[in-house]
Amino acid sequence: MATVISLINLKGGVGKTTTCLALADILAYEYKYKVLVIDLDPQTNVTVSLIHQDEWEERDKNGLTLKQLFLDAQLDTNIFVPEKAIVKNVSNVSGGIKGLDLLPSSLGLIEIQDKMAIIATTSNYTVKPTEILKKSINHLLSDYDFVLVDCPPNLGTVTLNGIFISDYYIIPTIPDILSTYGIPQITNKVSQFARKENLRITPLGIVITKYRSNLTLHNTTIETLESKHANDAAFPRIFKTRIPLTGKAEEAADYNDTPNTLKQKYGYQGLDRVFMRLVEEIHEYV
Ligand SMILES: Nc1ncnc2c1ncn2[C@@H]1O[C@H](COP(=O)(O)OP(=O)(O)OP(=O)(O)O)[C@@H](O)[C@H]1O
Ligand SMILES: [Mg+2]
Repeated sequence: MATVISLINLKGGVGKTTTCLALADILAYEYKYKVLVIDLDPQTNVTVSLIHQDEWEERDKNGLTLKQLFLDAQLDTNIFVPEKAIVKNVSNVSGGIKGLDLLPSSLGLIEIQDKMAIIATTSNYTVKPTEILKKSINHLLSDYDFVLVDCPPNLGTVTLNGIFISDYYIIPTIPDILSTYGIPQITNKVSQFARKENLRITPLGIVITKYRSNLTLHNTTIETLESKHANDAAFPRIFKTRIPLTGKAEEAADYNDTPNTLKQKYGYQGLDRVFMRLVEEIHEYV
């Protein structure tokens, strides 16, 4: 059975998608794992980093993105077929990485997401709004070693669908005041949800992103997070690997680049090795 990991934070722009993309590339390319990336974010960022924009548009028109799954739930239709929606051997690395698959998102999910609350009150709908994804794809998860769920910057119904299928979650954060402010809320809300739904989902850790070693604020924020973890068992560990602020992380999102190797994609300055160390650390716990 796959190990399912969601990447979540209430704060936007903290590196959830960048971390998800790099973990996916490395787990599939370096470790030869079978990996599924599920893009639950209507911003569709990890989708267009892993497949060409034109391919996404074509699939979106034909009901082959997650928009259709949640639309089915609202309209009581049954059009979405996950086996057809999953794109095989994605990524721009060497023309596609064998064993790296994607369940794409859609910009159209924005409006549908806003109406999700309505489903909860629809009397003839039998699947819980937070269980829609699980009901659709559960039978496919055993095909994978790892499933990575890239979530939008909130803990709304769509994100809770990702939590519902997850064994673990990772919180990427910039080590500054505003980005780390909501971490206790995340852990509280996820554990409340897990208790209510009788799930086992464990915080795997906090990943420091966009780290600037010469910035006092970054270093003091990390110290504060580490002491919170030391003093409170419910507060997640902080991974030792820190993702530095670097332009190469931004360039990694450009699908139109055609790198032949991870080194080319993540740069000769060592960002590939940084993410590889993060994967090794994750491996210590899963
Ligand atoms: N280590 C880094 N160094 C420099 N830029 C980065 C780094 N990580 C991410 N970025 C850039 O910061 C922006 C936000 O990153 P990303 O999309 O990964 O965050 P996110 O948490 O997924 O955002 P959202 O909440 O909007 O989904 C992007 O433009 C990305 O390329
Ligand atoms: Mg994102």
